[in-house]
Amino acid sequence: MKDIVQVVLIFSLTSVVMPGLQVRKSNQTKVMMRESCFLSDYSLKAKCVQIHQNLRCKGGFNDQWINGIKYEITHLTVTEWPGECFNVGHLHLHFPELRSLEIVNCTLLRTFKGYFRSDSKIEKITMHGLSSLWEIPPETVNHMVNLREMDLRSNMLRHMKAQLLIGSPVLERVRLSGNKWDCSDGGLDWLAMEEPNGTTKSRITDYYDLVCYQKLYRGKPLHKVMDIIKTMRETCPDPCTCIMTHVVSDPRGAIIPLITVDCSDKQLTAAPASLPPSVTTLRLEGNKIDTIRSIVQNSHYKRLADLYLDNNSIAAVKELEGSEWFSTFRVLSLRGNYLKQIPVYAFDKAFQANNNIMHVFLGQNPWRCDCHFIPRFQGLLLKYKRVIRDLTDIRCSKSSDKKTSLVQISTMPLGNVCSNETELAISPINIVNIVLFALIMFILGKFLYDWRNFKNTGKLPWLSSVLP
Ligand SMILES: *[C@@H]1O[C@H](CO)[C@@H](O)[C@H](O)[C@H]1NC(C)=O
Ligand SMILES: *[C@@H]1O[C@H](CO)[C@@H](O)[C@H](O)[C@H]1NC(C)=O
Ligand SMILES: *[C@@H]1O[C@H](CO)[C@@H](O)[C@H](O)[C@H]1NC(C)=O
Ligand SMILES: *[C@@H]1O[C@H](CO)[C@@H](O)[C@H](O)[C@H]1NC(C)=O
Repeated sequence: MKDIVQVVLIFSLTSVVMPGLQVRKSNQTKVMMRESCFLSDYSLKAKCVQIHQNLRCKGGFNDQWINGIKYEITHLTVTEWPGECFNVGHLHLHFPELRSLEIVNCTLLRTFKGYFRSDSKIEKITMHGLSSLWEIPPETVNHMVNLREMDLRSNMLRHMKAQLLIGSPVLERVRLSGNKWDCSDGGLDWLAMEEPNGTTKSRITDYYDLVCYQKLYRGKPLHKVMDIIKTMRETCPDPCTCIMTHVVSDPRGAIIPLITVDCSDKQLTAAPASLPPSVTTLRLEGNKIDTIRSIVQNSHYKRLADLYLDNNSIAAVKELEGSEWFSTFRVLSLRGNYLKQIPVYAFDKAFQANNNIMHVFLGQNPWRCDCHFIPRFQGLLLKYKRVIRDLTDIRCSKSSDKKTSLVQISTMPLGNVCSNETELAISPINIVNIVLFALIMFILGKFLYDWRNFKNTGKLPWLSSVLP
């Protein structure tokens, strides 16, 4: 027993010195800790002081307090508990009349073993300074029927389940400030969906003092983050998922969430009609959307910065022309659609005016390669090659013409599409020109012939002689 205690002590000390080690502890150690989780584990160095009905024990319990049942004690304070585990299940056996329990300044304590039984008379539980305690499992206190108050301020609590605050029928007050709350999914986000006067929320007396500690929400008031999460969940369009990717504060201190709405691979034929406020990114990849009209003309999309429309059925984007969104967006991906051509002039104009533009993707489309479109399109690709990120995938559509089929457009010699121009010069308009030219020459020749003929013979041309 002594050896085990020593090992535990040594281990506890190393844990303090090297906190990183705690996570990687082997199963064996854990099992040993759990097996040795008795109230009597640290009886040697314990110091207990009784004042009337109050007992205060530091560093463990002396044997005298753990042998037998102490009916006279109603208030117990445990400080500097030297272990990782504290057995609340056994507490009842020795102190059945406890009304109040305080566990304070136990920096090693990580878990509780057992649970408070339903015949426990404890009305108030206080825990402070438990700097290794991340969560109190609801089962620990769930059975208590007399618990009125829990003061859990100034610990390291990150997570909390709703059950913790629902278990006791007479629970009135819970204090939770000064902890390291994780406000994200799987942390405290269930609180967000509670009604403003919901049971659990109303029991947390310092709800408006709680602060989030997770990376994303670090230092932000919990109640504000909860309001944002709630708004986001309620406005997230079906069947998409919404994720908060960043949270920023504006100069006036208001919290602005940056939200990504993911609607990819949902068989959608149109973009969602509405979006949560302050959505920055919308993912619509792999759907059946065939027009972007509903996007660029929808006021909900005004603040959208990044739009991913890969692998849809969009054949034309002329709606972008002149749209406000087009001159403010940051990322636009139209890969894998049915685009044959784009309004090059409008793209050029918008790109030039757009100060936010970062990435544009146009690859994997069946681009039409002819002398009419390609020279201007190539010019655009080269002019904005820093922005257009997938130049090597921007190729002519597959065709029987070896000079263009699947050829990369940005590096293609223009001769590939424009070289036959002289051969092809006999376009309809040119034919008309040639015919007109021939007619003019004929009439001019006829006139000269008739004029000479008249001078020589005095004979009027046939036409003049017939006319009256
Ligand atoms: C540790 O315990 C888990 C389950 O509790 C088990 O799946 C795993 O294999 C164990 N690892 C070692 C190294 O014993
Ligand atoms: C716990 O520690 C703090 C600071 O270290 C100290 O002020 C407080 O008195 C301690 N409480 C108990 C009950 O020992
Ligand atoms: C919540 O409670 C307050 C007062 O306690 C009351 O004014 C308010 O109307 C309640 N809100 C709801 C939604 O019930
Ligand atoms: C689009 O489809 C192609 C081919 O099916 C696939 O390789 C690619 O990963 C898809 N892109 C996205 C963003 O889903």
